[in-house]
Amino acid sequence: MGKIPYRRYFYGSIPILLIVWFISALGASEKTSKEPNDKVKEIHFFYTGELLGELEPCGCSGVKLGGLQQRSGWIKSLSQKLGSLFLVDGGFAPLKTGLQTELKQETYKKILEQLQYNYHYLEKNEPLRIISSEIGPILFFSFSEEKTFSSEIENLLKKEKKLLPKVLFILGRKITSATFSSFPQGNFFRVFLDVAAPEPKQAVVVDSQTIFLTPGNRGRYAGLLKLSLSSSKITWENQNIALTDKHPSRKETTLAFDDYLEQVKEKKLLDLVIKKSSPMGFIGSETCSMCHTLEYEKWNESLHAHAFDTLVKVKRQYDPDCVSCHVVGYEFEEGFRNLEESDYLIHVGCESCHGPGANHFSNPSASYGKTQGAQSCAACHHPDHSPDFDYPSYREKIKHWR
Ligand code: HEC
Ligand code: HEC
Ligand code: HEC
Ligand code: HEC
Repeated sequence: MGKIPYRRYFYGSIPILLIVWFISALGASEKTSKEPNDKVKEIHFFYTGELLGELEPCGCSGVKLGGLQQRSGWIKSLSQKLGSLFLVDGGFAPLKTGLQTELKQETYKKILEQLQYNYHYLEKNEPLRIISSEIGPILFFSFSEEKTFSSEIENLLKKEKKLLPKVLFILGRKITSATFSSFPQGNFFRVFLDVAAPEPKQAVVVDSQTIFLTPGNRGRYAGLLKLSLSSSKITWENQNIALTDKHPSRKETTLAFDDYLEQVKEKKLLDLVIKKSSPMGFIGSETCSMCHTLEYEKWNESLHAHAFDTLVKVKRQYDPDCVSCHVVGYEFEEGFRNLEESDYLIHVGCESCHGPGANHFSNPSASYGKTQGAQSCAACHHPDHSPDFDYPSYREKIKHWR
């Protein structure tokens, strides 16, 4: 699935529907008055998959897709055009645990509250929630295991006879064709949402009353679903949206994120990272320059020599999520720890590729510093951060040797 940009789709269809209705109403008025109250009622859902703990994309590849700030801009812009939206999220779903993840989760909750989300996956361990809407009650439900739920929902529907939901909106991690038949069917429309699938996909028609949506994970894409009710029949339209930087973020969302970054700095998360010990110490690129002037000068012209400045520009220099690939020897006790203790190890320096150089410094010889080819780049030039990485051409660009 490629990126499907949001088109001005609804703008066009609403006036046409109104005109058609107006003309047919005119024609009918002389004969029998034909149900003038049969207006089309519509609601819009803006939905996303699970976030995998990613509040903001890293932007390493130069493109920033997703993130709660860009999302907030889209929500604001769409609700200005379409009126209030039903906001549904696939959940925070962190990949790690620890203090940083807790801070992120708090920020996630805060931002979803600010945006007035209606429902997110497994909310407060009360997976079931009923929300009234323009077209009638909507029953939201989420589940993670491959399991049959029809009895739970059927019991509820029996118990609350008055409820008569118009829509069942079901969020799940593992949705198969068995899932569709395990949920009750009736006089309501069913929407199944796969929160876990990584890439966005076109909506699938399961039957005349059921659709299956896949927005993709990590918050990079969203979906916009319109349900229209007329003559007690529900019809739908769906769009996938790439969450680009097209609409400026809401101020509160940006403030909440900045607040998170401030806590990352204050709580000194960089100092809490667990590291392994390296038998050899690091000395920093400046020290190498004493004897390898030519190599140093070449390196100094490359972006590697500015990799930490890049983080400072985007205010992420205290963030363990980012620093690891933008400094020297991050995974070692003797490598970069923080700006105060080890400012000589900022940027992607000589020792990021040639290895710790303290021994070589006290006993220089040609046996030091053979790199392991593409492998010495792979830890940082990971497909998520460097999708176009290609060893021969990238190696050519960093040439600093005779
Ligand atoms: C005190 C001077 C000195 C310092 C400081 C120094 N080197 Fe060297 N380096 C040498 C000498 C001398 C050689 C051996 C050159 C030769 O025999 O061709 C060498 C060899 C190398 C080689 C192998 C070159 C080859 O031709 O095989 C690499 C790679 C290297 N150094 C990288 C570094 C890095 C990275 C640093 C900083 C961590 C560094 N050096 C610091 C003096 C130094
Ligand atoms: C410690 C992590 C790390 C390692 C190891 C690493 N890189 Fe990089 N590389 C980066 C980062 C971070 C940037 C982006 C720097 C910036 O723009 O601030 C980058 C950028 C680049 C660029 C674009 C910079 C330019 O000057 O055009 C090239 C090319 C590159 N790396 C090649 C390589 C190659 C080849 C290797 C392996 C021999 C390698 N890198 C190893 C982290 C690393
Ligand atoms: C796994 C290693 C890794 C991590 C972690 C990482 N980066 Fe990067 N970053 C890179 C590499 C590699 C590049 C260069 C990509 C290329 O040119 O192919 C880069 C480039 C960048 C750039 C320059 C983009 C441009 O347009 O030139 C920015 C900005 C950046 N990273 C920010 C971040 C932020 C913010 C984080 C934390 C959220 C982060 N990085 C975490 C490896 C990493
Ligand atoms: C991004 C990775 C990277 C960085 C950063 C880097 N180098 Fe290299 N360096 C290489 C690669 C790749 C080669 C080519 C030889 C090889 O593959 O081992 C090389 C070659 C060299 C050589 C010649 C080695 C030989 O066998 O002929 C020297 C000397 C050297 N680098 C020194 C430095 C110094 C000094 C710095 C810092 C100022 C530095 N390098 C920064 C990756 C790097």
